[in-house]
Amino acid sequence: MDERGCIIRITGPVVQAENMLGSRMFEIVKVGHEGLIGEIISLEKDIATIQVYEETSGLCPGESVQRTGISLSVELGPGLLGNIYDGIQRPLKEINLQTGDFISRGVSIPALNREKLWEFFPVEKTGMKVETGDVLGTVNESPGIIHYILVPPGVNGTLTWITDPGNYTVEDHIATIVTPGGERPVSMRQNWPVRIPRTFKEKLEPVEPLITGQRIIDMLFPITKGGTAAIPGPFGSGKTVVQHQLAKWVNADIIVFVGCGERGNEMADVLHEFPNLEDPRTGEPLMNRMVLIANTSNMPVAAREASVYTGMTIAEYYRDMGYDVALMADSTSRWAEAMREISGRLEEMPGEEGYPAYLGSRLADFYERAGRVRISGKTEKIGSISVIGAVSPPGGDFSEPVTQNTLRIVKVFWSLDADLAYKRHFPAINWLMSYSLYLGPAGAWWDRHVGPEWGSRMKRIMAILQKESELEEIVKLVGPDVLPEPDKLILVNAEVIRESLLMQYAFHPFDTYSNPEKQYRMVNMIFRYFDLATRAVKQGIPVERIRTMPLLSYLARMGRTPAEQDEQMFFDIERAMDEQFAALGV
Ligand SMILES: Nc1ncnc2c1ncn2[C@@H]1O[C@H](COP(=O)(O)OP(=O)(O)OP(=O)(O)O)[C@@H](O)[C@H]1O
Ligand SMILES: [Mg+2]
Repeated sequence: MDERGCIIRITGPVVQAENMLGSRMFEIVKVGHEGLIGEIISLEKDIATIQVYEETSGLCPGESVQRTGISLSVELGPGLLGNIYDGIQRPLKEINLQTGDFISRGVSIPALNREKLWEFFPVEKTGMKVETGDVLGTVNESPGIIHYILVPPGVNGTLTWITDPGNYTVEDHIATIVTPGGERPVSMRQNWPVRIPRTFKEKLEPVEPLITGQRIIDMLFPITKGGTAAIPGPFGSGKTVVQHQLAKWVNADIIVFVGCGERGNEMADVLHEFPNLEDPRTGEPLMNRMVLIANTSNMPVAAREASVYTGMTIAEYYRDMGYDVALMADSTSRWAEAMREISGRLEEMPGEEGYPAYLGSRLADFYERAGRVRISGKTEKIGSISVIGAVSPPGGDFSEPVTQNTLRIVKVFWSLDADLAYKRHFPAINWLMSYSLYLGPAGAWWDRHVGPEWGSRMKRIMAILQKESELEEIVKLVGPDVLPEPDKLILVNAEVIRESLLMQYAFHPFDTYSNPEKQYRMVNMIFRYFDLATRAVKQGIPVERIRTMPLLSYLARMGRTPAEQDEQMFFDIERAMDEQFAALGV
């Protein structure tokens, strides 16, 4: 029987083939004589529509299509960390070594190195009952990261054999589990279809903030471990800088960064920048605990569409080991555009602005895979995936479908603002437009772990900023002189908040990150100033004299001292504050 289909039509990355009876939706096929990788995205009678992940020029009707019987999957196992993959998990460094800068069509290099030896330490003993998620053994994948080799999903039974400690490749047989369905040999590698979420026991409420060291985020618009956030922003407003800052600094164990290709050269920056970044926690390369998925806009559209799922599946795999994983996607708009392009080729009924009608549900299904969960396995363990997606609305218009659909799903919204970026107020997160639905759990965590009154102080800071914007409207109409003195003080205090806390220069060696303790002390210092300034105004001291105190510029520099000088800096500021207010008679 001829199992091959035959190409009847080619429109860009979408190919139709007949004689495909018996194939399945989302099955992977090899297209044409070069064996280009494609995925079946619709089936009608014996005709399959296939999205092809490689350049299709030169492909002709009449060429064959070969079925593989498997869905678009990723390989999971030791060796993922430090790797740079394209959207369908082809290892770009190895491909580059073999074929040069451009990926030749039809190249097939496995995602996980087949020769590399990993030192495996068995944990589980022969004769034990094991279930999905139990730790069979460990591998030191990279400095500081233990890779837990788990009983694969869906496997439950008795461990009848496990290998001795030693060096093995990802394909070597390391254990045998006897299940009701028969004997099951296990290696360190497993495959998982990217479009299907990996299983866990139970989704839990977020309880702990994901600390970013970015003050405006941690203080006013926190994200939690397992939370979801979106950063929409116009061209050049700082989406990528924020994403990179988070990749470097968040207190997650594993980082998955999906670059969905803005301009080609932006991805080139990523490819150069990330491999050279140092992990601030260890001094080792950041890539040691990171996986990079890189798609440029010159890569085929279908690979871009797949890349977010590839990234998410890798994130879930590390979550299943009990790690806190952070996944950044920059930018999800490129993914949505890939969906739109493919939908157009399929001649589906378009929804808003040409995006497919299922745009909202696809975005929701993706963000739904984030969360803090009780993972599978005998031992109680928790893992999490936090997802941060950049959105690039054309013309900075947030009413467009991708931004709107994303905002319906995510719990945190960091709204980047072209005006702030223009004024060089960075990060250009607009504090009046942004929100976080995690203020409750995050505030409680800070109160308990860092210092009391955090939650209430952040409310007061937000109230001052909101009052400032109301007062600015009045000032615009009638000028600043008519404001009563307490209102003038609010304007000064808001300026202090903006300049000392919210503005944070990503490229300054110390300002780039403020740890929770430092943030807490900075806020303490600001509240001490608030109290003294309020007392001064009550005593009739003109606000103008407060506004011109040298103290305010000291406060604005608090973020810029190296950790070892913080003690002295806070001490000096406190003394200067007392002296300067004393000089005013307070
Ligand atoms: N936190 C920050 N600190 C200092 N400079 C910043 C910060 N954020 C952004 N910038 C400045 O703004 C520039 C543009 O930022 P970025 O490339 O992140 O914008 P973008 O929103 O990703 O743009 P695009 O829409 O082109 O992808 C940066 O090169 C940098 O100079
Ligand atoms: Mg960008």
